[in-house]
Amino acid sequence: MKRFIAAVFTASILLSGCAGQADADFDNVIPRPAEITSGDAGSFKIKRSTKILCPPGDSAMLRNAHFLAQYINESTGLDLDIKIGKKCGKAIVLAVDTLIAGEEAYALKVDKNRILIEGGSPKGVFYGIQTLRKAVPAETENCASVNVPSVKIVDAPRFGYRGMMLDVGRYWFPVDFVKKFIDALALHNMNVFHWHLTEDQGWRIQIDKYPKLTTVGSVRRETMIGKDWDAFDGTPCGGFYTKDEIREVVKYAADRNITVIPEIDLPGHMMAALASYPELGCTGGPYEVATSWGIKPDVLCVGNEKTFEFLEDVFDEVMELFPSEYIHVGGDEVPRDRWRECPKCQARIRNEGLSSDSKYSAEDRLQSYCMARIEKYLNSKGRRIIGWEEILKGDVAPNATVMSWRGVASGLEAARLGHDVIMSPCQYMYFDYYQTDDIENEPLAIGGCVTLDTVYNFEPELPEMTPEQHRHVIGVQANLWTEYISTPEYAEYMMLPRMAALSEVQWTQPDNKDWNSLVARLESLVKFYERDGYNYRAISR
Ligand code: ACM
Ligand code: ZN
Repeated sequence: MKRFIAAVFTASILLSGCAGQADADFDNVIPRPAEITSGDAGSFKIKRSTKILCPPGDSAMLRNAHFLAQYINESTGLDLDIKIGKKCGKAIVLAVDTLIAGEEAYALKVDKNRILIEGGSPKGVFYGIQTLRKAVPAETENCASVNVPSVKIVDAPRFGYRGMMLDVGRYWFPVDFVKKFIDALALHNMNVFHWHLTEDQGWRIQIDKYPKLTTVGSVRRETMIGKDWDAFDGTPCGGFYTKDEIREVVKYAADRNITVIPEIDLPGHMMAALASYPELGCTGGPYEVATSWGIKPDVLCVGNEKTFEFLEDVFDEVMELFPSEYIHVGGDEVPRDRWRECPKCQARIRNEGLSSDSKYSAEDRLQSYCMARIEKYLNSKGRRIIGWEEILKGDVAPNATVMSWRGVASGLEAARLGHDVIMSPCQYMYFDYYQTDDIENEPLAIGGCVTLDTVYNFEPELPEMTPEQHRHVIGVQANLWTEYISTPEYAEYMMLPRMAALSEVQWTQPDNKDWNSLVARLESLVKFYERDGYNYRAISR
């Protein structure tokens, strides 16, 4: 008898996290939905016998149903069955309603008989599912049921482009981490993974026609230690993704409604490619994969036709792997030193009639020539380019989308010129910057200071823009450059919880944002980070 009492006591302690029943709370959700109206139609109980009802003949909806089942299982331990059809008893019903405007928009209604998640497309249903999963507490494992209060939610994202960039050039990160990064994007309702795949310090993507890009270009001899430009660790550092791994990542992301936009950064940040194929540089080398950070004077020779043959071949293989409409072609931080001295580059300047004026040098226009030529090639294959803001210098490639990163001024300039803009200013959106100005106990970062509330307070539609120019601001992105971020754990620490603040800049309408509310809601989201094994920085301003 004593033993029985002890067993019951132990079991009740194990269950005490939720006392057998958990309560969902839609007021905990990040990013905050547009409209949440509490109802008086009782509440719905999610329990073992609850079904997930999914319409027939739609693979995206079936995938949604499996995600929902997985999420409920992760939070509660309940194992819900998926039923294909239009009707059944008490259920979580997933449906597409073409009357809902916007493919990412959704409506979520709860009464005592069902939870109905309807989307403008299966993507909208996916975001309704994200909202439901974040309303259910992350750590209710072993609960018998979850009480979901009666509610009506109507929601849609503010921006169509909601991105995060991961730099795998400075440090290569394993595929498992790349997937975990994508999981974090999905948790925060983001839909673009900008994958920065090439750098001075390492080329990370297999290209069959140029095998040395990975046999030579993916490994650097050693790495500078901390911020000491004269001390090196003597340890080779490298890694690359095979085509099969890239396909796996692209599919993993697509299943979560995330588009992977690859970046091949040109014509600068190309030391790894030049070390592999020195004939692509103005001097012919020899070059080595960079072992220190910073901007390198050696860049692709734009006077050499072989450079364009190389780039077109590389992009042919890139386009085969990545179905994204956008391809990022870099364009940032390109010194003109070598071009000024190079007979081939100077001949190109003469032959193309590229001239200097009070605003731009002939070499600035040589970069524009390079970007415009690559844009034309990619446009001819049905793709569009994104470039860092430096592509505005000279004559910007005609159809380019511009990523404003040194501030917001380039975003304004690009919008005025009629280009689409993605706002990613370093003062708000560089997650490699410190998260506090009290850095004594922080791990080494590149510098700067982007606190959680700095991220949160960013407004991408500038007051000096016209409504027409606002329409050119298609979205917001944060960037995780990794010069000083060599491990997944550190990357997570720099991402989280800043991604939560970012997600409301991207998703939530400005008049529905509220800093104090965000901080309160983060307590709930952080439990997901903990449960799913993410490292994160404690919440502070
Ligand atoms: C950049 O931060 N160089 C785009
Ligand atoms: Zn040259």
